[in-house]
Amino acid sequence: MTGCRIGFVGAGGVAMRHARMLSGFVDAELVAVTDTDPGRAQAFAAEFGLRAVPEVPGLVEAGVDAAYVCVPPDAHGPAEETLAAARIALFVEKPIALDDTVAEGVATALDRAGVLASVGHHWRYSAAVEQARQVLAGRPVRLALGTWLDKVPPVPWWVHRAQSGGQVVEQAIHVLDLARLLVGEVAEVHAFADGTAPGGDVDGATVATLRFAGGAVGTLAATCLLGWKHRAGLEIFADDLALSLGEDTLEIRDGSEPPRARPVDRDAAKRAADRDFVDAVLGRTDTVRTPYTDALRTHRLACAIACAATQRRTVRLEGGADVP
Ligand SMILES: NC(=O)c1ccc[n+]([C@@H]2O[C@H](COP(=O)([O-])OP(=O)(O)OC[C@H]3O[C@@H](n4cnc5c(N)ncnc54)[C@H](O)[C@@H]3O)[C@@H](O)[C@H]2O)c1
Repeated sequence: MTGCRIGFVGAGGVAMRHARMLSGFVDAELVAVTDTDPGRAQAFAAEFGLRAVPEVPGLVEAGVDAAYVCVPPDAHGPAEETLAAARIALFVEKPIALDDTVAEGVATALDRAGVLASVGHHWRYSAAVEQARQVLAGRPVRLALGTWLDKVPPVPWWVHRAQSGGQVVEQAIHVLDLARLLVGEVAEVHAFADGTAPGGDVDGATVATLRFAGGAVGTLAATCLLGWKHRAGLEIFADDLALSLGEDTLEIRDGSEPPRARPVDRDAAKRAADRDFVDAVLGRTDTVRTPYTDALRTHRLACAIACAATQRRTVRLEGGADVP
């Protein structure tokens, strides 16, 4: 294979972002798109010079090597299963589903077909996250504080729990994925929620407590009731070490003065995630940093927090394993 032929399921905001990025790769060819809204598919096709096809099998017929699945959380499952059966590599946007059941089914289908699948947890590709991993190596983490304090995103389905799964599953999952990467698996969660997003039924504010399998404790605080994006990130504390990772900066403080800070290049991480996926499809690498099987663990954690908030009980997670 000399170039990677790519299709899209879903022609919304994040699909456009990937298409713009992939258009700059000389070894990627955008071939076809499908969307349940034919007008969106047509507009996307016109903008990026590819074919609009009515349904997912049309991507298979178009001969794509890989497909980006960029649909709302409640629409995952059938597309991935059809594409996996045709042995087409997948880049699946987070969250990978609304609940555990669909995601487990997709994971089984991918495993059965032996198909490469990456998930859009692109923070893992940030150089700042890599530096954080290095600084934390051999330093047992005691405390992790995750935050996602934001406005409601401008997509109509987001405020409806049955479509998005709520803020923790849909959005704060990025921070949970980082927590798993940098601190380890979570063994137990409890959570409380308050308020409701305007015009919908998702929680307006959530706070969760986390007990990591390695012994560390943590919290996640999220709200979507602001009119602006206030902050999203993760603070991690080990003995005599404080590390603060945001979307724009990484700050490390270890008692030496002054604290060390470095900017975080968000676009570089997004580009690297797409680049790594295309390289893996073309056989230049044999792994990605965000495999579906690993994203499934992050998804289970987000679903556990949502469940703990709804059912007002502690939820224990089983089968935690080390993050690659
Ligand atoms: N990784 C990131 O940084 C990032 C950024 C933005 C969005 N996302 C995720 O991407 C997903 C999509 O977000 P978006 O902002 O593009 O939403 P969007 O509403 O702009 O686009 C979704 C598109 O999917 C289409 N669609 C719905 N059901 C479909 C189906 N069964 N088959 C084909 N098309 C279908 C819709 O018509 C719509 O055009 C969300 O889960 C979101 O969390 C991830």
